Amino acid sequence: MPLVEVARLDEIKPGTSLEAIVGIEIYVVCNHEGEIHVLDGICPHRNGPLGAGNFADGRVICPYHGWEFDCVTGEYDLNPQVKLKKYPVEIRAGVVFIQIEALA
Ligand code: FES
Repeated sequence: MPLVEVARLDEIKPGTSLEAIVGIEIYVVCNHEGEIHVLDGICPHRNGPLGAGNFADGRVICPYHGWEFDCVTGEYDLNPQVKLKKYPVEIRAGVVFIQIEALA
């Protein structure tokens, strides 16, 4: 699977998140208790920029209407059937990469 660079490890301290824009894709990169998680960065409600919102107690909080998503499972707290896509993460030499599906 292709690897895509989304962040440097030193810019994502524990308890924080950031938005990563790679081409036309937008991701939210979270550091929850020292573990890096990368999820889709667009809210499934009305396309809010999740990486621009708050991150608290392992939850990504949409800045538009406050929907909250668990960064480990990707689940929306009020309806776990609504989930953000998660990406496999690899850390290499202080850089955070995600595995994406092969381009056609
Ligand atoms: S757009 Fe995210 S909660 Fe509405």
